[in-house]
Amino acid sequence: MNDMTPTREQREAKLEGMGCKRKRVEDARFTQGKGNYVDDLKLPGMLHGDFVRSPHAHARVKSINSEEALKVPGVLAVITAETLKTVNLAWMPTLAGDVQMVLADGKVLFQNQEVAFVVATDRYAADDGINKVVVEYEPLPVVIDPFKAMDADAPVLREDLAGKTTGAHGPRKHHNHIFEWTVGDKDLTDAAFRKADVTIKEMLSYHRTHPSPLETCQCVCSFDKIKGELSIWGTFQAPHVIRTVVALIAKIPEHKIHVISPDVGGGFGNKVGAYPGYICAAVASIVTGKPVKWVEDRIENLTATSFARDYHMTTEIAATKEGKVTGLRVHVLADHGAFDACADPSKWPAGFFNIVTGSYDFPVAHLSVDGIYSNKAPGGVAYRCSFRVTEAAYCIERGMDILAQKLGMDPAELRLKNFIRPEQFPYHSALGWEYDSGDYHTAMKKMMETVDYAGLRKEQADQRAAFKRGETREIMGLGVSFFTEIVGAGPSKNCDILGIAMFDSCEIRLHPTGAGIARVGTKSTGQGHETTWAQIIATEIGIPADDIMVEEGNTDTAPYGLGTYGSRSTPVAGAAIAMAARKIKAKAQMIAAYKLEVHEGDLEWDIDGFKVKGLPEKTMSMKDICWAAYNSVPPGMEPGLEAVSYYDPPNMTYPFGAYICVMNIDVDTGVYKIRRFYALDDCGTRINPMIIEGQVHGGLTEAFAIAMGQEIRYDDEGNVVTGSFMDFFMPTAVETPHWETDFTVTPSPHHPIGAKGVGESPNVGGVPAFSNAVNDAFSFLGSTHIQMPHDYWRNWRAAKSLGVFA
Ligand code: CDP
Repeated sequence: MNDMTPTREQREAKLEGMGCKRKRVEDARFTQGKGNYVDDLKLPGMLHGDFVRSPHAHARVKSINSEEALKVPGVLAVITAETLKTVNLAWMPTLAGDVQMVLADGKVLFQNQEVAFVVATDRYAADDGINKVVVEYEPLPVVIDPFKAMDADAPVLREDLAGKTTGAHGPRKHHNHIFEWTVGDKDLTDAAFRKADVTIKEMLSYHRTHPSPLETCQCVCSFDKIKGELSIWGTFQAPHVIRTVVALIAKIPEHKIHVISPDVGGGFGNKVGAYPGYICAAVASIVTGKPVKWVEDRIENLTATSFARDYHMTTEIAATKEGKVTGLRVHVLADHGAFDACADPSKWPAGFFNIVTGSYDFPVAHLSVDGIYSNKAPGGVAYRCSFRVTEAAYCIERGMDILAQKLGMDPAELRLKNFIRPEQFPYHSALGWEYDSGDYHTAMKKMMETVDYAGLRKEQADQRAAFKRGETREIMGLGVSFFTEIVGAGPSKNCDILGIAMFDSCEIRLHPTGAGIARVGTKSTGQGHETTWAQIIATEIGIPADDIMVEEGNTDTAPYGLGTYGSRSTPVAGAAIAMAARKIKAKAQMIAAYKLEVHEGDLEWDIDGFKVKGLPEKTMSMKDICWAAYNSVPPGMEPGLEAVSYYDPPNMTYPFGAYICVMNIDVDTGVYKIRRFYALDDCGTRINPMIIEGQVHGGLTEAFAIAMGQEIRYDDEGNVVTGSFMDFFMPTAVETPHWETDFTVTPSPHHPIGAKGVGESPNVGGVPAFSNAVNDAFSFLGSTHIQMPHDYWRNWRAAKSLGVFA
């Protein structure tokens, strides 16, 4: 080795493979304003569409008159349900097996529902046209309170379902009932409750909120009449699924549909489903022969596309007096709004809510979920969540704190006592999941030591004493949360969307000079896939990450994949990437053996190439193998170096984490101060620690928003009262607390690189940490549970109801 020969460390460092804090390559364009978003797209002759929306939450549509609108300069067409009926598109299927009106057909079922689509030469003309469309409504009684939806005299919302006693997920009990989903052993669970020393029962509401990505939902549709081809540029988290849905409902052959997701400014579940805007823009393009753009505004986004949560969870835990849990019983009333448009895998009407046993060894459990219709916007998306896991984590983590309070035990001690032990993995939960790996005790103890948990409890006891002596008006809360996530949807044995198994894919092509391109079936909406996917390939096949270009989002070039949401990208596509890389490596090994004139078995992998066992100077780098792949492959072998993998995961992955929030609340004003927030995450093998930290910061910020104020609220008449960022809490850097992050590493045993997902974890674990902190603060005043969101006013109201004012 001469002085110029790079050391092993230098060769490793050059790759910037897994474990490296590689800087995000996509940020070069994003930080310079050079991203290419849907609204940046301007096609020749492009028209603009905009919606007439309903001011009523429930009303019959008596008539729609477009005469005056069509006189507005620039307005070319007004599309209504009657127009859509001519092409059989007045209603569209939802991902949950229901149907949804594209445009109001006879009645409206929620405020701001799409009634007519005005197409004009520019957005302003479309807006003027909207104001001239005259719609005659006859208001009807509304269902806003989900607990009243199944009253005997509740108004019939879905007249299209009249007489249907069975829906997509089984029998319906009432005209506003969608489904009942039950899991677990009811008899054994009831018996555990009868025998229990201690039980708790509490109704825990997880309020309606909204993912509200920075960029709203939008698309440009362009139909080429000559070729019969439809191109759609859109803000899609799952472009291939959109292509298939369009093919099925518009009856255009799938190969003649081109779906392209350019840069997407945040998704958080909001951009998984199909919305009326997409259908209307496509129909308008077909009708006018011109490209048509539809761009949602902020109010439309908050009020009409895809709410999240709205789960009302009656939670019961049975335990021994020593604090060992013996049973869990949960009933959920799920408000799905006007149409069941939940974006869940097809067979899961309540998503993966049956992860509700959490990190604890419950011998028995029973869960039932009733979905109901109401006069609210449809949706039910996984807002930074893996299909209702956030609701489940909130349910069990609040439940455990309430149990600890009843038992007079420390909440952290109660958790340590009931955790699934490391030797129990793979662990079969009472509600049907097989947890792949975990080491909960180590994570929890690391969290407790790092923050000096015992010291914090001592400080809290002193502060409570001072409060009682009248020396302070502040109360202190410690919010412990220990969550287990279930991410990586998913194995074809239990996950599909509209019948398509939820695999994912990667195609890698290496070029002669040793650079290459990887195309993946996922679509980054800010998670940094262009950076991390290349890191996996770098470690697997020794090509520097900088020499791999990652491309996602174009259905013409990317292999079929099910997209990005629910932290599925790393567990599923990340595995496909590693498997495609391994196929390449296997071929590379044959080429290297041929060139080095040895048997394949005599070669071993060494960072960025192969070396001959026992002869370390006889090597061939991957870069040289790439060149050889295009000019001197072994006889009989095809030239080139590329591979594709479609990965159907054998199981989900189960990341976990230990979080704690330290909070002070002033009882006279309700003003809270987040003094400290510590988040320990275990996502198995870590691809890029810096990106993971960024994911955790972002997810915690959203958790903070949701727990402490972010809500979609309706008044009694069904008016949305939180329809803009003036009313809907969107934290800025000013309000956002400081985050401390930490980690442990427990690899997934079935994932090729041992990685689990991470993007959703901080939202899943963060919300209960905040809520437990507030509830812990108030608990010594005699409170058991205060519903979220915990804004200043509600904190003040809670203090008032607990009698702290003289
Ligand atoms: O599906 P989504 O991209 O939202 O979630 P994810 O799979 O949790 O990945 C989010 C980002 O974190 C991606 O850029 C991943 O590559 C990165 N990540 C990582 O570096 N290591 C992990 N073990 C998990 C995710």
